[in-house]
Formats: sequence, C-alpha cells, structure tokens
Amino acid sequence: MIQTSKRLEGIGEYYFSQKLREIDELNKQGKAVINLGIGSPDLPPHPDVIKVLQDESAKPNVHAYQSYKGSPILRKAMSDWYKHWYNVELNPDNEILPLIGSKEGIMHICMTYLDEEDEVLIPNPGYPTYSSAVKLAGGKTITYDLKEELDWHPDLDAVEAMDLSKVKLMFVNYPHMPTGKIPDADFFQQLVAFAKKNRILIIHDNPYSFILNEHPKSLLSIPGAMEVVLELNSLSKSQNMAGWRVGMLCGAKERIEEVLRFKSNMDSGMFLPVQLAAAKALSLGKEWYDAVNAVYRKRREKAFQLLDLLQCSYSKDQSGMFVWAKVPGQYKSGFELSDDVLYKSYVFITPGGIFGNAGDGYVRVSLCSTEEKFDESINRIKASPNPRPTDSSGWASKGGD
Ligand SMILES: Cc1ncc(COP(=O)(O)O)c(C=O)c1O
Repeated sequence: MIQTSKRLEGIGEYYFSQKLREIDELNKQGKAVINLGIGSPDLPPHPDVIKVLQDESAKPNVHAYQSYKGSPILRKAMSDWYKHWYNVELNPDNEILPLIGSKEGIMHICMTYLDEEDEVLIPNPGYPTYSSAVKLAGGKTITYDLKEELDWHPDLDAVEAMDLSKVKLMFVNYPHMPTGKIPDADFFQQLVAFAKKNRILIIHDNPYSFILNEHPKSLLSIPGAMEVVLELNSLSKSQNMAGWRVGMLCGAKERIEEVLRFKSNMDSGMFLPVQLAAAKALSLGKEWYDAVNAVYRKRREKAFQLLDLLQCSYSKDQSGMFVWAKVPGQYKSGFELSDDVLYKSYVFITPGGIFGNAGDGYVRVSLCSTEEKFDESINRIKASPNPRPTDSSGWASKGGD
C-alpha cells in the first residue's frame, strides 16, 4: 500500500462531505431530508452576469490560458468595488489578486508564509478551513476563543499574554461565521494596533459583509492596515456565485507578489468569460444587494420560528447567511440536537461544534433554502414523534421517545 503523506495526518474528510453521505442514506430510504446546513446560495446571479458569460464564451479567442494575476478588467472591477463600497483605494495593477474562490486563497497564504515551527492564531469557533490549511502547510494552530460574553470578539489582552514569539499569521473574520457577529466600531482599530505591536500579519476573511449587514466594512479601511493586513473577499455569497469560484486577495504590493509566487505554480488562471462576468457582477448597484437581502430577511424570520420551536436562544442582530443559536439545556451539545432533528424530523441543521469546541453548545441554521422549505421544516418538527415541549418546563427528557 502507498502511504499518504505525513501532512495529511490529522486532516479528516471535511465534515459536510461526511454528513452529506449520511443524509444521502436517509434520502435513499425515502426520507427527503431538508438540508438547512450548508451556506451555498440557492439563487442565481444577476441575469446580466449570466449574459456576459454566455456572450463571451461564444467568442473564439477567449479559451486560452489566462494571466496568472487575472484579467486587468477584473482587477479594475475589484478595485472599483473596494472604492465604491468600502472606500478603500487599491491599485488594480498590484494590490489585488483574483482567486479561484477565497478558500484557495487561505491555502495559498499558508503555503506562502509558513514553515514548520511557525504558529497561526485561528478563531474558535471559526471556519474549519483555517486550521486545515495551516496544518497542511506544516504550521501549528493556536486557537483564540470567541465567547458570547465578549460578544464574540477576541480578548486581545488575553491573546497578547500568550507566547506569540512564533506566531506569524492571525485569521480573523467579521462579519463572523458562524456567529453572525458584526464587529464593534473600534475593534478593527485595536486589531491593526495589535498586529503592528506584535508583528503579526492579519488575514481578514470578509465574504459576508454584504449579507444582512447595513454597513459593509473592510479591515483595509483602517489607517495603516495595508502594512499588516491581507484581506480575502468573495463573490460566492453576495453575488450568488459560489459555484463559479471567484474571490480576491487584497493588500500591499509586496504581499500580493509573495502569494503570487506560490499561486502561479498551482493554477494557470481563470476562464476569461468567468472573469468578465465576475467584473459585471461587481458593477451591480445597491438594488442587487437590497434584493438579495430582502429574500434572506424573510427566510431569517422563518429560521427564528424554527429555532423558537426547538427552544434555542439567539440574537436577532446577526449578519451573514446563517442564524447562530444556543441549544436548550436538555441537550448535551449542538451535535445531539442536530442529530435529534435529523433523525426525527429529517431536517439537517449544523452543529456548532464543527467550528471548534467553543461552538459546542450551539447550532447554525443556513438561510440558503426557500421559505417553503422552512415552512415544511417547521411542520415536520411540530409533527415529530418526539414529544416537543408544551410549557416552560422545556423538552421532554431524551429517554421519552
Ligand atoms: C468564513 C468563510 N470564509 C471563506 C469561505 C469560502 O468562500 P469561497 O467560496 O470564496 O471559497 C466560506 C465559505 O463557506 C466561509 O464561510
């Protein structure tokens, strides 16, 4: 047998890929599971975006390899988008690198900066890819806890009290996934000061700033941030283009060149019509974001109803395409509640523990399903064989079913 590499040790299959197999099994038994788990927008991009892709891909001269640093048209569109929405000036020639989705950018950054002894601060709870990418690149993760008591912000004093001598990078993500937290007004300033003082490069992952958030913000808008921040952004969520795989990395020219040294050895550019369609998507006005958010806002009301039924508690002031909620005390963890709802009502909601143990007592409901699917989920939960709580005493005991 050929052994897998050491770097794969401790890297499991992605949780959702395993869980989807389990859901498939239930579907084969005819259960028609409703999946309120994954954050993949179910709605299409703007029709003009699709038209650009169609028109451009019909041309004979767009099928060759493309530039490693992306089409100048796309880089200009990205730069204009940053200026228009975040009031951040980026030179399209050298401060922006288009990516095949921001997920690959996380890996490229780790491969660019990490050697074996290097450490990286990652949020707990947080997007699981940060920790896999660090480990695959040979680095070591140091988690910093985000707690509900601190409004899901890191305690930067506590982080500073840790031994940071080997820490090179820190992943940060606001609006935060999975908690939906929008950053406090002065948090970004504190973060930039922290990075400068401790000589750490902050990787700010910003894919959710346009979803259910009135004030999209870039960490690069903070004075001096270009010295210590690289920001990832994405068209997956706010432009409904998750499957198209378009993202971007923004920051100082030197950093972009460093990451490009790695990335240009990994892929050979992106299909030009996709890049041109992405440029179109970035030029859409406020009406586009308003329309997307109107859909999510209605679905969120349904998600609140569903969570009320499960006696979960949650903040109504959340951003992004999920609702994060605390499970009632009768459950040991979000895993237990998630499995209970899956096997009794055939509705899948994500256990918060997959985002790190600080998420153990929580679940996350995705808003990427129709209102009809939410209604059906609510009906199934109401009709579930498990006796649901009828009064303030809460759930029937787990042994009751
Ligand atoms: C916090 C966070 N960052 C990055 C990504 C990846 O986005 P992309 O589709 O741009 O690779 C996701 C996707 O779920 C995410 O939740």
